[in-house]
Amino acid sequence: MTSLADIRSTFLNFFDKNGHQVVASSPLVPRNDPTLMFTNSGMVQFKNRFTGVEAGDYQRATTSQKCVRAGGKHNDLDNVGYTARHHTFFEMLGNFSFGDYFKSEAIPFAWDLLTKDFGIDKSRLLTTVYHTDQEAFDLWKKIGVPEDRIIKIDTDDNFWRMGPTGPCGPCTEIFYDHGDHIWGGPPGSADEDGDRFIEIWNVVFMQNEQFEDGTMKPLEMQSIDTGMGLERIGALLQGKHDNYDTDLMRALIEASAQATSVNPDGDGNTHHRVIADHLRSTSFLIAEGVLPSNEGRGYVLRRIMRRAMRHAHLLGAKDPVMHRLVPELVKQMGGAYPELGQGQRLIEETLLNEEIRFKQTLDRGLKLLDDEVSSLGEGDDLPGAAAFKLYDTYGFPLDLTQDALREQGRGVDTDGFDAAMAEQKAKARAAWSGTGAQADATVWFDVADKHGTTDFLGYDTLTAEGQIVGVVVDGQVADTATGEVQIALNQTPFYAEAGGQVGDAGTITTETGTAQITDTKKVAGVYIHIGTVTQGEIKRGQAASLSVLTDRRAQVEANHSATHLLNEALRNTLGDHIAQRGSLNAPDRLRFDFSHTAALTLDDLDAVEKEVNALIRQNGAVETRIMTPDDARAMGAQALFGEKYGDEVRVVSMGQLDGSGKGTSGNTYSLELCGGTHVRQLGEIGAFVTLGDSASSAGVRRIEALTGQAALDYLRGQDHRLAETALAMKVPTADVAERVKALMDERKALTNEVAQLRRELAMAGGAGEAGPTQEDVNGICFMGQVMQGVSGKDLPGLVDQFKDKVGSGVVLLIADTGGKAAIAAGVTADLTAKVSAVDVLKAAVAALGGKGGGGRPDMAQGGAASADAADEAIAAARKVLEG
Ligand code: ALA
Repeated sequence: MTSLADIRSTFLNFFDKNGHQVVASSPLVPRNDPTLMFTNSGMVQFKNRFTGVEAGDYQRATTSQKCVRAGGKHNDLDNVGYTARHHTFFEMLGNFSFGDYFKSEAIPFAWDLLTKDFGIDKSRLLTTVYHTDQEAFDLWKKIGVPEDRIIKIDTDDNFWRMGPTGPCGPCTEIFYDHGDHIWGGPPGSADEDGDRFIEIWNVVFMQNEQFEDGTMKPLEMQSIDTGMGLERIGALLQGKHDNYDTDLMRALIEASAQATSVNPDGDGNTHHRVIADHLRSTSFLIAEGVLPSNEGRGYVLRRIMRRAMRHAHLLGAKDPVMHRLVPELVKQMGGAYPELGQGQRLIEETLLNEEIRFKQTLDRGLKLLDDEVSSLGEGDDLPGAAAFKLYDTYGFPLDLTQDALREQGRGVDTDGFDAAMAEQKAKARAAWSGTGAQADATVWFDVADKHGTTDFLGYDTLTAEGQIVGVVVDGQVADTATGEVQIALNQTPFYAEAGGQVGDAGTITTETGTAQITDTKKVAGVYIHIGTVTQGEIKRGQAASLSVLTDRRAQVEANHSATHLLNEALRNTLGDHIAQRGSLNAPDRLRFDFSHTAALTLDDLDAVEKEVNALIRQNGAVETRIMTPDDARAMGAQALFGEKYGDEVRVVSMGQLDGSGKGTSGNTYSLELCGGTHVRQLGEIGAFVTLGDSASSAGVRRIEALTGQAALDYLRGQDHRLAETALAMKVPTADVAERVKALMDERKALTNEVAQLRRELAMAGGAGEAGPTQEDVNGICFMGQVMQGVSGKDLPGLVDQFKDKVGSGVVLLIADTGGKAAIAAGVTADLTAKVSAVDVLKAAVAALGGKGGGGRPDMAQGGAASADAADEAIAAARKVLEG
């Protein structure tokens, strides 16, 4: 028996030998086609090569492409389990020519591979061609296919289009006749829908391009795009009629049978088939980072998972089943698709969590469904309101309810379901506007209602294509924008500001213009790209290439990961009371606010900085997992400030306690709930340096820090300053600190000495203009004096000294302190009963144009804006004595 793995490699080897580049499967989430929910055929990754928009270094390629048809236009979900050939996940084998060979080589390639390498009996094959394509007809005839088995088809069945627009062309299909013991007629006949004649390979002659306005033009290049389902050709080569009887699918069905202890071939067969198929699509999607959610691709994933889980329930499974089948899937397909092995833990945990959660409501939901159905008449549809309640309260996706009712020959009133859903959305919007958020948020709610929320691709790619679903200029919806703009797309690699991490910057380019994006935010799940159209114009509905500024994102990620390390290092250094109170992760720096009352000592800061840098050098891995909040808390994840948790949380773990840098569970250094983006390995942070700690608010400290090149630049800056200082001081850099301290001591001593000298000088009369003069006023000895070079502080001491000098008298000193005046008056004790120093002072201050001042009868002080009127002030004092 030829295994599917052998068939896959035989196919790829055949085309490799014939000059084709073997290209890896592209992701299931298309990076280059925003209009597609999931990659659904081999040509998706080559779309731009067919139209000539993109050039490549090979002209022939071959792939085994993973495909999902479970959402959007191609949706086979409802049929899986009930038919022989439907899958949500399948592999499409294909060979491609980009302007290289065309029909005359493509047809023999297909024929040779099928009849020689695969050894299929020629007499069982028949082909179809587009009715006008005589060339293809003749080529088949030449190869030896009898004319009566080359069937001309005049419908779109033989004209392949990737979608309403894009590359297209006539095709030829190869069919296999499984024999007259099976019912069915050849293609084009009335009985063609039977299972006897099965299409196995579609060879498309890409020669036209379809445009939006309905016109179709010939392509410059004539190309080839082919597709053959691996499961179908596998069934044929293994002598089976049912895809689910092939080795790979059978192995998964056996695993399901074992996990549930239900015979794989008895009544449980349908359930096992559903489980086997859904295991593949969900595991591949999770491996690519799609996670269950209530929107978009994540919701399609959830629908598939829950559908499988209901079927496991129908098999009587009490405990979660799906995650136990992952090892078998990895065994079967991990060789060809390494992402399965790499993502195994994430896949298992995601499946397990979803199954645990869904089980909590599944029984009650099924009971409600039974109750509702029991009150319905024969063949009546389930009312929409009931289906909505199952959706809203019990987590039953609509198609799961439909699947459950299908067995009873019932449907669901989907209009009623839609109406109930619309009502709930309207309520959510009303609740939002009630929060008083900015008015233009409603614009984004409209976008969310119409186009759904934005798919974030930026955990694992920084470039992608998206479709512009909203353009806003000056807070108003617009069709076209030039200048300042806000743009929303159905999917984006741009991170929107959240959890302290700033929004991404980068470029959005469409066929008519370019916008430079400086920030990204989100409202109602819609990512808003904020920037300026710098060239041409940007229009709503356009396809756009998005590119995040990689260096800036890398710096932000280094800072964000360092913040997690800082948080842990602070707890280790200061104690478990440390809790995050806010953070900022910008490209140029990080800021972390945390609960702690005292300032950090230098030793604390040193310890924290050392610990973070040690973790960086150990270069441990950063891992992301999704789990329930309870599980995350049980693992020790810290709850973060200001985060709102949905049903699932993202847990980011980094570093190892034993310093090995290698991940062993239970050994994680830092574990936090976080939706942000991070470095892959801690070594990418490079270096970490704190800029010190400060008070942010009562009981909250703030540390600012730098990482990577910014940290090195900062340290080097410090070094440069030190080196310059050392040079100027003519001492070795190591002595600078000691020398600075010595100089500061010296300076202090000199300052004191200068002040002392000034006072002495003033006393000696050297400081005054005319020297100290004593005069007799009304029988009292009066000394009025203007002094330069002394400060206000010195005046009381000087007044006392002059008082001593005269023995009995009144002293008024006015210090001219560079524009301002300081005034002091003193009266010897024997005279205070006659004259108060306060009165003398007030008179002088008033004459100088000042105000106030005061003191005791023996000593008073005051000030004025200027000493210009010093003579008038002395005269005014004299007057007081005269009075
Ligand atoms: N793109 C072609 C198909 O999907 C080959 O059938």
